[in-house]
Amino acid sequence: MSEEVVIHKGLDNVIIDESRLSLVNGAEGKLIYAGYKIEDLAEHALYEEVVYLLWNNRLPTSTELESLRAEIAAGAEVPASVMAMVQQFPKESDPMAVLRTAVSALALYDPDANDSSPEANRRKAARMTGQVTTLTAAWPRIRKGLAPVAPRKDFNLAQNFMYMLNETEPEVNAVNAVNAFMVLLTEHGMNASTFVGRATTSTKSDMHSAIVSAVGTLKGPLHGGANTEAMRMFLEIGEVANVAPWFDQKVKKGGGKIMGIGHRVYKAYDPRAAVLRDRAEKLARASGNGKWFDIADSLANLALADEYFIERKLYPNVDYYSAIVLYTLGLEVDMFTPLFAMSRMAGWTAHIMEQTANNRLMRPDVVYTGAVDLPWVALADRK
Ligand SMILES: CC(C)(COP(=O)(O)OP(=O)(O)OC[C@H]1O[C@@H](n2cnc3c(N)ncnc32)[C@H](O)[C@@H]1OP(=O)(O)O)[C@@H](O)C(=O)NCCC(=O)NCCS
Repeated sequence: MSEEVVIHKGLDNVIIDESRLSLVNGAEGKLIYAGYKIEDLAEHALYEEVVYLLWNNRLPTSTELESLRAEIAAGAEVPASVMAMVQQFPKESDPMAVLRTAVSALALYDPDANDSSPEANRRKAARMTGQVTTLTAAWPRIRKGLAPVAPRKDFNLAQNFMYMLNETEPEVNAVNAVNAFMVLLTEHGMNASTFVGRATTSTKSDMHSAIVSAVGTLKGPLHGGANTEAMRMFLEIGEVANVAPWFDQKVKKGGGKIMGIGHRVYKAYDPRAAVLRDRAEKLARASGNGKWFDIADSLANLALADEYFIERKLYPNVDYYSAIVLYTLGLEVDMFTPLFAMSRMAGWTAHIMEQTANNRLMRPDVVYTGAVDLPWVALADRK
């Protein structure tokens, strides 16, 4: 290999473009969406307000917000043919594989599917943000043999999600928790799924294809799957009294990882985890079952006081306490990653629109390390 070649394995520290969407400050544990602190948005903003912010680079007026809320709710219905197809899927399918396949099918029924003009992309972004929420609420019902529930036009997305999941009038604390979760998961700089969404867009492929790429990438356990793994770990621990022996056996002696702890970028407390810890505690106490929060919190406290974790700057990340929030809301554990996907729709679509507006084909390179100049051997002569 020549001296000048530098391989950026994993694309570490490669800056692919400028973006106005979000700032992740890993050293200080800060996250900003288009100028606004994540803590303020999680406390005050409706998910649709954050959607507007990312798509327009400013907060909406109340008229603009209501108009976007209504547009998303009106477009959230999934075409009957797509829902009928989803109802045919094997009930044991991975929910992220269901979502990936269903998003691909949505393109076949979308009037703007092959139009990537700014206007068409904006319409598709609104439709798909609603439709992915509808699909996420529908799958846990469909696999139990229940009929999916259509979205209501008068609801916002968090309300609609809880309504379509349970077919009951959504309860205000649950809706607030889902809304805050969605706001916190909306956008996060240049992560793997956002990157592939932009890379797909850079070939001038369409928005549905870019979202299919992103959903397929989020599915991996090193990206969106950690919330599910964190909850499975809390369930395995089972009781607060088991936390210390589990930590000792599995982590200290066994060298295992605590799922939901550590982050490639945050070397301080993940600001989303701080907000979600507070939400998780309130929800768990209100539900009358604080056990899972207590298990999570005492395990985090053990890790935060442990030299190994302190030295490596390992803190709870967004997945750690969000697992408790979603479990307390009654979500099945394997549905946690689809909820991440539905929340990330605004961020992904914003990046796709940003890429489209100032495109350059992404075409990285690789250093070839295989053989050269081999003599051709006819098929009959190969051993
Ligand atoms: C997120 C994650 C992949 C970041 O990884 P990274 O930046 O590549 O850092 P590394 O995996 O190299 O970890 C650095 C060190 O901390 C250790 N470490 C990292 N996360 C750990 C965890 N959750 N529990 C115990 N040790 C951990 C690693 O073993 C490594 O130790 P070493 O220096 O002795 O080799 C990693 O922290 C992890 O696997 N966490 C659990 C899964 C998770 O929560 N993923 C969701 C991320 S949002």
